[in-house]
Amino acid sequence: MKKTWKILSVALILVLLAAGAGLWRRQKEAQGQEKTAIRLGILLYRGDDTFISNVRQALEEQAKGYEQETGIKVVLTIEDAKESQNTQNSQAERLISLGYDALCVNIVDRSTASGMIDDAMSAGVPVVFFNREPVEEDLNLWEKLYYVGADAKESAVLQGNIVAEAYQKDPRSIDLDGDGKVNYVLLEGETSHQDSLIRTEWSIQTLMEGGVPLEKLTGGIANWERSQASVLMEQWLEQFPGQIELVISNNDDMALGAIDAMERLEILDKINIVGIDGTPQGVQALERGKLLGTVQSDRTEYAYAIFHIAAALALGQDPEEAVELEKGTYYWTHQKTLTR
Ligand code: GAL
Repeated sequence: MKKTWKILSVALILVLLAAGAGLWRRQKEAQGQEKTAIRLGILLYRGDDTFISNVRQALEEQAKGYEQETGIKVVLTIEDAKESQNTQNSQAERLISLGYDALCVNIVDRSTASGMIDDAMSAGVPVVFFNREPVEEDLNLWEKLYYVGADAKESAVLQGNIVAEAYQKDPRSIDLDGDGKVNYVLLEGETSHQDSLIRTEWSIQTLMEGGVPLEKLTGGIANWERSQASVLMEQWLEQFPGQIELVISNNDDMALGAIDAMERLEILDKINIVGIDGTPQGVQALERGKLLGTVQSDRTEYAYAIFHIAAALALGQDPEEAVELEKGTYYWTHQKTLTR
């Protein structure tokens, strides 16, 4: 009888201990300290954009590395808005209603972020915007909004310097016919994108300050797209035969489009072409001697910043312990020039 009581009491103590541990774990989880899994939504403006799909891949790598390092399971749900803000708003609403811990948003229309921000704010879901920067007024609506990107002015100054330095070393390498003028054409990204205008303005400014005697032949908007740029370049090559000396492109994909047009028309002129992004495709063109140079933003660092800010927020931690932020909101990735 005594023995049975003893066994029963030990069992009771064990049950109580287990229940206590469960309660403690749940309390910790509620405080966000011991979550064993996080769910992050990644919303892309266009999944087939080359630069963005590279960042997406790097984000997936970050998530894997993080799982291995911390033992915390990461659910990444990646959605493609195919350039529709309405589609993207519905994707955000759905993930918010499913209780996702944070969203990483490459917003379609950077001037209309406030709708999505309102939804996220009322549900308490933090948002890390990236690459397409919402207006400052919107980013100031809530303290749990962040932005990760590459500084457009810096990209442009670095791009301008690639050409200016080549010109200073050997003017004839840029002014191909030696007439004292460098005839250029300009390929621009989307008009609504903060990077397009700033990159164009500062690239030209840097070239002028670097003493390159620029003369614009023409320019056009190719919305970051290789095929659109290729159509424009083909027209320009026909319109200005033998005259184009330099192609300044707001990104690598459009620079590749210009190369495609030259190859299609079998133009062997040594036209210099510069891009921005440093995508693997851009780097390959550089190695083949088709590009004069490009400006690379470190995509591993880019993805590291987006992922770690989001993961910290998902766990209720301070993202500034993971990365250094400007004004508590912005993270700017490092960039470097690559030349042939
Ligand atoms: C730019 C990038 C482009 C394109 C665009 C999309 O920063 O240079 O290639 O990806 O973002 O928003």
